[in-house]
Amino acid sequence: MKKIEIYEVGPRDGFQNVADYIPLETKKKIVEGLLDSGIRHMQITSFVSPKAIPQMKDARELTGYFVDKFPDADFLALVPNLRGAQGAWEAGLKSVSYVVSLGESHNQANIRRTHQESYDELLKIREAYPDLDICLDLATTFGCPFEGKKGAGDVVPFIKPYREAGIKTVNLCDTIGVANPAQVRSIIEAVRTEYPDLELQVHIHDTRNMGMVNTLAAIELGIVKVQSTLGGLGGCPFAPGASGNLATEDLAFMLAEMGYETGVDTPKIVELAKYQAEAIPAGQFSGHLFKIQARD
Ligand code: COA
Ligand code: ZN
Repeated sequence: MKKIEIYEVGPRDGFQNVADYIPLETKKKIVEGLLDSGIRHMQITSFVSPKAIPQMKDARELTGYFVDKFPDADFLALVPNLRGAQGAWEAGLKSVSYVVSLGESHNQANIRRTHQESYDELLKIREAYPDLDICLDLATTFGCPFEGKKGAGDVVPFIKPYREAGIKTVNLCDTIGVANPAQVRSIIEAVRTEYPDLELQVHIHDTRNMGMVNTLAAIELGIVKVQSTLGGLGGCPFAPGASGNLATEDLAFMLAEMGYETGVDTPKIVELAKYQAEAIPAGQFSGHLFKIQARD
């Protein structure tokens, strides 16, 4: 049976989009529920400026609690700079997602840096924390809200210096949900041809109802690590019109039906998505399954 590793990113990408602060106890319940449902890989928070994203002000506390309690789970956090990497490392994380946008104008809007500045910052992180495992989270891989569509010709050369800096994993993020399966295939194939040893992941937003088909296109090309958020909660506060990611429980359901092994208990995670929708009434959820079951 083919194994797919689901990377849950709701506690970062989902929560960051909720304007009102979600109490730490609620966050803990959701993270615990995810672990209990069989999730083993999770972007648990981000170490970012609390002025930029006030929701993430408890990053250290939340991370510290789970790193100590669940030493076997694979937790990572999103970081935009050296300060963030330091926060993640000191909280006990061994892995981070270093976020850079392929669209330079989105990079400026999101993290106030040029491409060169983001690259130079990565070198500083590598130097300061040589044992920190760094995945490049390449935001707006398939299209930028300010610059329009992106293609293999943009993605392939962009990755080159990051490879040279020792990056071994790149997460191709459809931040604003504009990808289509043909584009997913052409970008993955081009990146693979150029960098056969590079590990790829995908992170697809469901803005245009294409989260599932695009993620499946990647899986059918052999990608085994895919990202999603519980309930489809999510978005990007610096990408106008962005909506939630593909919902984890919908993805887990489809993969199980197709005979893939994910380790996720679908009924349990559907219940958790229902709980989350009640606990975060202001949240926007693109998930389907938990809404159907709520009417049963
Ligand atoms: N963690 C906590 N605080 C941080 C930080 C981090 N990683 N990086 C910077 N800060 C603090 C600084 O100490 C400074 O605080 P002060 O005003 O009290 O002195 C303040 O944030 C501004 O720092 P500066 O270096 O001038 O950053 P900036 O204003 O140019 O903003 C980022 C750059 C990257 C820090 C900010 O834009 C950010 O955190 N963006 C994250 C966006 C995000 O998460 N988007 C969604 C995910 S894709
Ligand atoms: Zn995202």
